[in-house]
Amino acid sequence: MKMHKREKKNTGWKGMIVGMMVLSLIACRHKVPEQNMAERSIIPLPSSITPEEGAFRLKKRTVIAVDEGNEQLKAVGDYLAGLFNPATGYELRVKEVKPSSEGGDIRLTLSNDAPDLGKEGYELKVSRRHMVIRANTPAGVFYGIQTLRQLLPAAIEKDSVQPGPWLIPAGTICDCPVYEHRGVMLDVARHFFPPEDVKRLIDEMTAFKLNRLHLHLSDDQGWRIEIKSWPRLTEIGAQTQVGGGKGGYYTQEEYKALVDYAASRFITLIPEIDMPGHTNAALASYAELNCDGKARELYTGTNVGFSTLCTRKEEVYKFIDDVVGEISALTPGAWFHIGGDESHVTPMEEYIPFIERAQEIVARHDKQVIGWDEISHAGLRPGTIVQYWARAENAKRAVEKGARVIMSPADRTYLDMQYDSLCPLGLHWAGYVEVDQAYNWDPTTLVEGIGREHIAGVESPIWTETITNMDDLNFMAFPRLAGHAEIGWSEAARRDWDDYRNRLGRFARRFQAMGIRFYHSPRVDWQE
Ligand code: ACM
Repeated sequence: MKMHKREKKNTGWKGMIVGMMVLSLIACRHKVPEQNMAERSIIPLPSSITPEEGAFRLKKRTVIAVDEGNEQLKAVGDYLAGLFNPATGYELRVKEVKPSSEGGDIRLTLSNDAPDLGKEGYELKVSRRHMVIRANTPAGVFYGIQTLRQLLPAAIEKDSVQPGPWLIPAGTICDCPVYEHRGVMLDVARHFFPPEDVKRLIDEMTAFKLNRLHLHLSDDQGWRIEIKSWPRLTEIGAQTQVGGGKGGYYTQEEYKALVDYAASRFITLIPEIDMPGHTNAALASYAELNCDGKARELYTGTNVGFSTLCTRKEEVYKFIDDVVGEISALTPGAWFHIGGDESHVTPMEEYIPFIERAQEIVARHDKQVIGWDEISHAGLRPGTIVQYWARAENAKRAVEKGARVIMSPADRTYLDMQYDSLCPLGLHWAGYVEVDQAYNWDPTTLVEGIGREHIAGVESPIWTETITNMDDLNFMAFPRLAGHAEIGWSEAARRDWDDYRNRLGRFARRFQAMGIRFYHSPRVDWQE
């Protein structure tokens, strides 16, 4: 009897607990919307997404665990905590654990047994209690974090504490990029952008897994980097810009700090010194670079094609050697961009030997050359990369000469082209580039004879004749740059305008939370 009573009592107690659990589950259901990994708006589109039931909840006590003894991975763990702390108000702990251990709630780990993931791919596995980002390199883990960011509500991007909850839908994402070069070019010559702005752009690029920042450091209107052996380049050549504003330049220390900042986000800086044309700022700084030995006036207009270094003077090659040498010493990346575009006043018989000699100088400083598509008129050293912007026949010739190509067709990728005839900023010499025009193309089918094996990647130039500040820059770059990032990262066969348009529309809140003033294209249904 007694026994029976006790059993009965127990059943009542258990029943109450079960009842409470059911009630709290129901309450939770009401509080927390269904989570489905495949329904999150991720740009660039990952290679595969396999959703599962449930969600991981980011909490105050969530611990990020990284393999011990790997400084770069530890820095990536700290970066992750720094990314999530402002909006959550947490102070996420990062701890080092044995590489084989499962420790921590968010595990960042390197493995050498995933050849499919390559140098930049990752696998992200999320379950209710645990999350793992696994990659062959810290860069891969870093890109996994960028995806993780987009699996959280947009409010995670804000820099003040937000209410949450911070739920990450369960499932697995396997992902790796199609192209190794996924770049942006910023023209800091037409208008100067101080280091804080460049860092901001780097952070924006980071969110879309872009990995190269090409800085256009010199042009007719300004010289923007300190060269210690030729100081008048900045004393004179940096003092103005388009429209006559005060210009500016990066000291070598500031440039190095940018290189390091970019590297901490797995972005390589590519310096460009444009030559032999687009050189008025240098020609104004040093009379001896001109064939007539007379310094030019500083120029603040927007014409192109009127200036040239004197390609017949030996001291011009000494100048190039010094400039390339000083900048290369500050640049750990493999590339040096020599420009070479629109040299309309350099006779072709002088242009060709000049470009060949410039390539030799760059090679002596242990860098690989990149140049605009016109350089394919010259002989190309092995390893030289040609950046296609204007003429398909130049790009084809480059490929015939064994070069690889970066795709920057102006009518698709130039972020200074107006969206439409009402666009308050930008130019339209290559046409209007709406968001679908920017997205809807495949680098491998653009130019006959240039296929996947010839293409290093995609780059989006931001020329700044009409762009003077970060808000305007963001308006011209976004959302088109997000589409270019997807072209560079995701398989063409999996990309589709309607699907992208839908994801982009749902990205509006994230752009806003990131403080990005973007163009509200009427071709996208923005969900704000
Ligand atoms: C260029 O737009 N002149 C490369």
